[in-house]
This record gives sequence, structure tokens and C-alpha cells, in this order.
Amino acid sequence: MTRPIEREFEGKTAFVVGGSSGIGLASATLLADRGANVAIIGHSTNTPALAAELSADGKRKVIGFNGDASQADFVRQAIADTVAHFGGLDILMCSAAIHPLGNVIETDEATWDRTFAVNIKSMYLTCHYGAPHLIERGGGSIITVSSVQATSNTPNVCAYATTKGAIVTFTHTLAVDLAKHGIRANTICPGSIITPMQEHFAKGNADGRSVEEVYAGLARPVPLQRLGEASEIAELAAFLASPRSGFCTGSEFTADGGLLASLRIV
Ligand SMILES: NC(=O)c1ccc[n+]([C@@H]2O[C@H](COP(=O)([O-])OP(=O)(O)OC[C@H]3O[C@@H](n4cnc5c(N)ncnc54)[C@H](O)[C@@H]3O)[C@@H](O)[C@H]2O)c1
Repeated sequence: MTRPIEREFEGKTAFVVGGSSGIGLASATLLADRGANVAIIGHSTNTPALAAELSADGKRKVIGFNGDASQADFVRQAIADTVAHFGGLDILMCSAAIHPLGNVIETDEATWDRTFAVNIKSMYLTCHYGAPHLIERGGGSIITVSSVQATSNTPNVCAYATTKGAIVTFTHTLAVDLAKHGIRANTICPGSIITPMQEHFAKGNADGRSVEEVYAGLARPVPLQRLGEASEIAELAAFLASPRSGFCTGSEFTADGGLLASLRIV
């Protein structure tokens, strides 16, 4: 029997890495609103307190873990604690990332290694320790978050953009290898979305402009003439997490207001 969309994740458990902010937080909240048990994982934030806040009215079931998702011990333990708390795992969402700037000459080795550790090794660890639990449940959905930068680049995003390309390939391998277990894997490629990461980026590139002026500049080449909202990416994540996307696996889902479709010749 198909459940109404408002409660479509009833009885399911989601593990959302990067769930303490921005796109991950919006997605975790939407999954929880639609009935999922959710574990959110964040770094340098009080993620357990945020989870308690999200659960405060008794309508959502959210737990939180604070730590570095590039560290195997942390991820293994957070997954074990989530399974112990909620009884299993059905959905993995990998949204954590850092966004250092620099071309290949400016990017030092430590920055390159750290970006790969946070942006892609965290996904490997989450799926390495998490996917066996999805298999135990007879299947599930994995959602990774890449970027339009996987396809086409602005200047000075050498390390970040390279990890975003790797995420697309990583997701293909998940789709091919895990399909026999009933697991689907897809990646979301957002354009410019209003989140704390975007605000941080805007402040770092302001050159005397306000954040709103930076956003207006980012919106100019976008056919829809605006930035996206985290809630719009969350809707896509919920679709990919649900059986409504049952025939989708190994695919990239772009949500960029038309940016990649547009030839930006002025
Ligand atoms: N905002 C955009 O315009 C945009 C565009 C394209 C792609 N993306 C991608 O979307 C995803 C989410 O970005 P966002 O804009 O919501 O950013 P954000 O900074 O608001 O959120 C990032 C999340 O990652 C977590 N995180 C960072 N380092 C971590 C670590 N070592 N261990 C565990 N968690 C860690 C943070 O705590 C936070 O929860 C990222 O993968 C980003 O690359 C964002």
C-alpha cells in the first residue's frame, strides 16, 4: 500500500551526514517531517542540541552526533549508535563538504588532502559502514550531494570541484554494485543555493559588496534569475529517498535554475 506523501518515511531511518546545516539540515528536517527517524551528523556545531531542538515538539524523531565524518572510528560508532537507537537504517544522505578556494598552484597539499577527506572519504566511510545495514533491511536509498562544479567550473575551486567530480563517479559505483541488494544511489548537483556555506563564500568574495549584492551577481547568469533555497534541494532528496523514484539509480539530478543549460555569452 502506498503511504500518503506526508508520512511516506514512517518506519524508515535516515542517516544524514552534514545534517546540521544548509542542504543537509533542510533534507533531514523534511524526512523527519514525513515520518522518518533521522540521525544528523555535523562538525564544529552542537549537533545533539540541534537534534533535541528539532525533536522538541514531539513530532519529529531526530538524534545528533558531532564529529569528523572523515574519521572511520567516528562514522562507524555514529552508525552503530543510530542502528541501536532506531533499529536499522534505510536511507544514507552524504551532504558534508568544505569549500576551500584556490587554483592548483595555490592549493597546498594539506588543503587538497583535507578537502578529499571531508568531501569524498566521508561518503566512502558512510557507505562502507552504512550500506550493510541497508542490505539487512532488503534495500534502501543513498543520496550523495555533488555540485554543478562536477561538470563546469568557476575559477579557483581546484580541490573542491575535483571532489565533486569524484562524487559522481563514486555514486555510479554504488548504483552498479548495490543494485542487486535493492539499494539505489543517486547524486544531486545543486547550483547556487542559499546556505551558511554560500553566505561564507559570499562574504569571502564581497570586495566591498553586501552579501545580497554578491547573491545578485551569482543570480545574473541563472535563467531563473535567483539562487535556490535549501528546501528546494530537500524536496529532491526526499523524492530520491522514496519509492517514488524507484527506477532512478546511478543518476545525476541537477537543480541549478537552468545554469548549466545556459551558454553564458554576453
Ligand atoms: N550551497 C550551495 O550553493 C551548494 C552548491 C553546490 C553544492 N553544494 C553542496 O551541498 C552540500 C551541503 O552544502 P551546504 O551549502 O548545505 O553547506 P553547509 O556549510 O551549510 O553545511 C555543510 C555541513 O557539512 C558538515 N561538515 C563539514 N565538515 C564536516 C566534517 N569533517 N565532518 C562532518 N560533517 C562536516 C557541517 O557541519 C554542515 O552540517 C555540500 O556537499 C556542498 O558542496 C552546495
